[in-house]
Amino acid sequence: MAVTAAALPPGVIGVHALPADHHDGPWDSMVVPDGTKERLLSQALLVLRHGHRLTALSAAPHGLIVLAGPPGTGKSTLAQGLAQAAALALAPHGATTFVEIDPHAFPSDMLGESQRAVARLFTEVLPEIAARRPHTIVLVDELEALAVRRSTASFETNPVDVHRATDAVLMGLDSLRARCPHVVLVATTNFIAAVDEAVLSRADLVLHTELPDETTIAAILRSSLAGLADNWPELRPLAEDTALHAKVAGRCVGFDGRRVRKLVLAAMASRTEVALRPPLLCADDLIAAADAEQADLP
Ligand SMILES: Nc1ncnc2c1ncn2[C@@H]1O[C@H](COP(=O)(O)OP(=O)(O)O)[C@@H](O)[C@H]1O
Ligand SMILES: [Mg+2]
Repeated sequence: MAVTAAALPPGVIGVHALPADHHDGPWDSMVVPDGTKERLLSQALLVLRHGHRLTALSAAPHGLIVLAGPPGTGKSTLAQGLAQAAALALAPHGATTFVEIDPHAFPSDMLGESQRAVARLFTEVLPEIAARRPHTIVLVDELEALAVRRSTASFETNPVDVHRATDAVLMGLDSLRARCPHVVLVATTNFIAAVDEAVLSRADLVLHTELPDETTIAAILRSSLAGLADNWPELRPLAEDTALHAKVAGRCVGFDGRRVRKLVLAAMASRTEVALRPPLLCADDLIAAADAEQADLP
């Protein structure tokens, strides 16, 4: 059950009980190198299930997983998928709470307001939420907005405020780890160079997402077309035409995963007849859309 936005503390944009059927999808939809999903899932499960017992180790986990890479490479989708995949694996031991944090939703840095809100998030809000169910996964999407690297922070921002906000995150991470060693925090960043080093050094796993190569692009195209064919079975042949996927993929080099997914929509929207009757979508529409998008790449 999702709690209404009005009831949520600053910075928290969603609280969900998992597993839930409507959260199926993201995990399977992601095309990533072999082993990536297992590594991510295992890292999360280890802390969610055994975090309490691991605190005694000299190298106890911080429960922090960082997904870093260019925009549109699937970081947020992987993080959401991970929450559901972990919740499914842990379902025999109880439910999982998935909490979504939006660093941009914190009040401005003025007068230390943001710093207080961050401190409250880690010392009150998250421990209270974590007390509700046996497992808790927190997604901090676009961490660079919260934990600005102090050594390179822009001079336009008040350096004192930047220090304070980043210090609040560091103290928050340490306090959360001490009180709730079984909570997993998944943070994403488009720009790892902007994230504070001390925050990064606390990560148990930093996973770098890359722009998709041609084979991956072809697989994303296939998966997007298969999704369409679920709605319009006439499109099944297009969804199964692997030679076509490879041909189109060759024209999409340099696209991020989001742009590849959107390509199918762009192709459908390139002709009025196709927009009205999607089964009319053909190979040439996809090729033309790929060429048009390629010409638009910066
Ligand atoms: N490797 C990939 N495999 C499948 N889909 C992908 C991949 N990379 C990106 N996408 C798709 O692109 C869209 C944007 O992904 P998103 O998770 O928002 O990226 P990010 O958070 O890195 O900006 C989503 O629909 C996602 O499914
Ligand atoms: Mg994202």
